[in-house]
Amino acid sequence: MSRIKLMCGNWKLHKTIAESVELATAVKNAVGPLRDVEVAVAPVFTALHAVAKRLEGSAVVLAAQNCFWEDQGAWTGEVSAKLLKDVGCKYVIIAHSERRQWFGETDAMASLKVRAALRNGLDPIYCVGETLAERDAGEAFHVVGRQLEGGLTDLTAKEAERLVIAYEPVWAIGTGRTASPQQAQEVHQFIRGKLSEKFGNAAEAIRIQYGGSVKPDNASLLMDQPDIDGALVGGASLKADDFLKIVKYRNS
Ligand code: 13P
Repeated sequence: MSRIKLMCGNWKLHKTIAESVELATAVKNAVGPLRDVEVAVAPVFTALHAVAKRLEGSAVVLAAQNCFWEDQGAWTGEVSAKLLKDVGCKYVIIAHSERRQWFGETDAMASLKVRAALRNGLDPIYCVGETLAERDAGEAFHVVGRQLEGGLTDLTAKEAERLVIAYEPVWAIGTGRTASPQQAQEVHQFIRGKLSEKFGNAAEAIRIQYGGSVKPDNASLLMDQPDIDGALVGGASLKADDFLKIVKYRNS
């Protein structure tokens, strides 16, 4: 099974509307037509509409950084998956470790969000990953296994094919400390095994991204691993040149 790699820039809480459009334009102009890789960018909510307009007609697709699980109602301050579909998103990042750490998001909430995304025609990018303390305690597999169990409930195999899993070890996010290709592959293989227990053959279609200090100089060794199907890129996605070098890792 050959899976098309998904390279997604997670811009986090950075950039105004004008700056987001500028970066999206640079990415769009430089990637050109794409064959063997899919490219997505995830700006802040307030820039989604403008970036969607700018990306029209290009191969770069839009992702959101979070969504709510209800479609509408008395939920002050929330943005639903339904509205993200309406603004032009294809993907939505769910349960990023920063949401888990700072906003108390749990696997149970993630599960509701994953189902809301699928119900509304968005493909979820579900984030999992252990903290440094958990890794040091030898619990990395256990933690990731629990996150997969808790966040991916009541899905059919057909729905599961639309999932993207992002393995982001918390100790590698924004620290400059990347998991080695072997360390990452080991966990990706474990994740694929778990997905296969849950969803059978659909597991072969599910893309598993790596995230955590992905940079132009380490992208290619990571992407060469058999179960690494793309990258979720934070810091390096804020500079068009660096992000493009990662997208085009095969040529570097
Ligand atoms: P960095 O690439 O800045 O480590 O961030 C990774 C990340 O959290 C992407 O979602």
